[in-house]
Amino acid sequence: MTPTPSSADAPSANLSQDELKALVGQAALQYVEPGRIVGVGTGSTVNKFIDALATVKARIAGAVSSSAASTERLEAAGIRVVDADEVDHLGVYIDGADEIDGRGYMVKGGGAALTREKIVAALADRFICIADASKQVTTLGAFPLPVEVIPMAARRITAQFKALGGTATLRLKADGTPLATDNGQHILDVRGLSIIEPLAFESEVNQWPGVVTVGVFAHQKAAVCLLGTAQGVQTLIF
Ligand code: 5RP
Repeated sequence: MTPTPSSADAPSANLSQDELKALVGQAALQYVEPGRIVGVGTGSTVNKFIDALATVKARIAGAVSSSAASTERLEAAGIRVVDADEVDHLGVYIDGADEIDGRGYMVKGGGAALTREKIVAALADRFICIADASKQVTTLGAFPLPVEVIPMAARRITAQFKALGGTATLRLKADGTPLATDNGQHILDVRGLSIIEPLAFESEVNQWPGVVTVGVFAHQKAAVCLLGTAQGVQTLIF
């Protein structure tokens, strides 16, 4: 569906990327449903949303979190965190993105939380994406595509991406050892892909043995994107 841009909510010329993130984090409060549990993503933009959510915490029943990092921040803010497995259904899931295209398809996982993000997103009626304008793309793939993998399959998955024209590298921590996700698995970051058909690409890569989650969010795409721009927050509806 073609996105429906609304007019900007407020002027924001000369705002930094951090300020744009705060702006969309605050704007996301309009989607938080009183008395209900909200799904919460991961990342620096979501951290701004959690800060905003803390100001209305008495109005919500709690949050389902997509990462240990977000859980820690939510709890520090006095927001009750409910396990995803105790929830049948969520109205909204609010999260950032590394890339979002004109159809609401996204690349996510820059913060290594993609598997839990996809699980919580799948519980929700609507994915509300919050992002600064630098995340808007025509075609997904310029941002290295995160893929969570079972370590023993990493070499073969790397070869499978090579056959598609991509170069996969193991994500490392600052000390040079492999980064372990909240699920104890590894992340491959894949460069050189141009993801023209996100739905088909996600379906294909997801069924490769050893892939836990591919960071293309097409089956769980955004319903709405609150985009922080120099003209203010634009609401894109997909
Ligand atoms: C974490 C994610 C984040 O949503 C994505 O990396 C965007 O992060 P930020 O808001 O810090 O730019 O997918 O796994």
